[in-house]
Amino acid sequence: RGFRCLVCVFPSPDVTRSLIITSPDHMIEKAKGETAYLPCKFTEGPEDQGPLDIEWLLSPADNQKVDQVIILYSGDKIYDDYYPDLKGRVHFTSSDLKSGDASINVTNLQLSDIGTYQCKVKKAPGVGNKKIQLKVLVKPSGTRCYVDGSEEIGNDFKLKCEPKEGSLPLQYEWQKLSNSQKLPTALVSEMTSSVITVKNATTEYSGTYKCTVSNRVGSDQCQLRLDVVPPSNRAGTIAGAIIGTLLALMLICVIIFCCHKKRREEKYEKEVHHDIREDVPPPKSRTSTARSYIGSNHSSLGSMSPSNMEGYSKTQYNQVPSEDFERAPQSPTLPPAKVAAPNLSRMGAVPVMIPAQSKDGSIV
Ligand SMILES: *[C@@H]1O[C@H](CO)[C@@H](O)[C@H](O)[C@H]1NC(C)=O
Ligand SMILES: *[C@@H]1O[C@H](CO)[C@@H](O)[C@H](O)[C@H]1NC(C)=O
Repeated sequence: RGFRCLVCVFPSPDVTRSLIITSPDHMIEKAKGETAYLPCKFTEGPEDQGPLDIEWLLSPADNQKVDQVIILYSGDKIYDDYYPDLKGRVHFTSSDLKSGDASINVTNLQLSDIGTYQCKVKKAPGVGNKKIQLKVLVKPSGTRCYVDGSEEIGNDFKLKCEPKEGSLPLQYEWQKLSNSQKLPTALVSEMTSSVITVKNATTEYSGTYKCTVSNRVGSDQCQLRLDVVPPSNRAGTIAGAIIGTLLALMLICVIIFCCHKKRREEKYEKEVHHDIREDVPPPKSRTSTARSYIGSNHSSLGSMSPSNMEGYSKTQYNQVPSEDFERAPQSPTLPPAKVAAPNLSRMGAVPVMIPAQSKDGSIV
């Protein structure tokens, strides 16, 4: 009885252990663009006499997607056109799968290839499967080193090292390449961070610095040149640059002004000679001519001739009463605004007075 129970608890070992996948389960990390080798080697037992079927499935890291068949071996044929994202990028590495190697390579890795890959081997009655987790990481690249702040003695500023892309976690390492090749002691504690903060800088900090940034799949580096200078030097340089710019601007202004003035004077001279020849004595100098002309021009614009004035008042007369009629047609006792309007408009108080009168009228 005891023996039979043992058989129940541990069912026939011959069948279940017939086909074994010998490659261990593990995780693979590769850089984007590289090739991932996903091993799946197996041994079959003497009882496994059925046809060999091999199937690779992918459970993408993106949970929205279900398991996908990516490559299949069945009836001595390979089928690999199942999953569009991997089209042309997944191959069996062995030319003879029956020899016990169902490993695949995934080429030109993309971030979308991240997920769990499952190798299923079937040779009835034996079956076996194995999972491999694939991670695709981006190497650090496009790293930029720069100084943030002004590199003056006594100043605080930062040295920064910034990769454009790269999968986390990233490690940083700063080195000094010139001027004693040793990081100033105050910076040693920060030599593995992305940003180094320099406080109360001295010329001792000057030199070439190199930053190396790395993650598990690659590394990148950049350099910067630091020149710590006395503040006066820098201030002098900046002031010089500002003054130079201002002088240049002033010069340009003067040139533009002169050209403009000259052209205007030439124009006036022509017109003035033409206008004034008969009734004004010839001008003594250029400037006096221009001035007298401007004066006369101004007065002719400013004063209104009677004809102008009449036109002006007429427009006012036409506008205001019409508005008035619209507003107070219901009051028959009101003397027509028409009568009052011309007088008022001549007094130059049209816009104020007429509405006031109409108001009074409507009240009466
Ligand atoms: C599979 O990829 C590995 C590198 O990961 C390479 O050494 C090997 O030659 C590739 N095999 C085939 C058949 O492409
Ligand atoms: C900056 O450094 C100088 C000498 O290197 C020292 O005399 C000064 O006190 C320091 N200033 C500050 C604010 O630490």
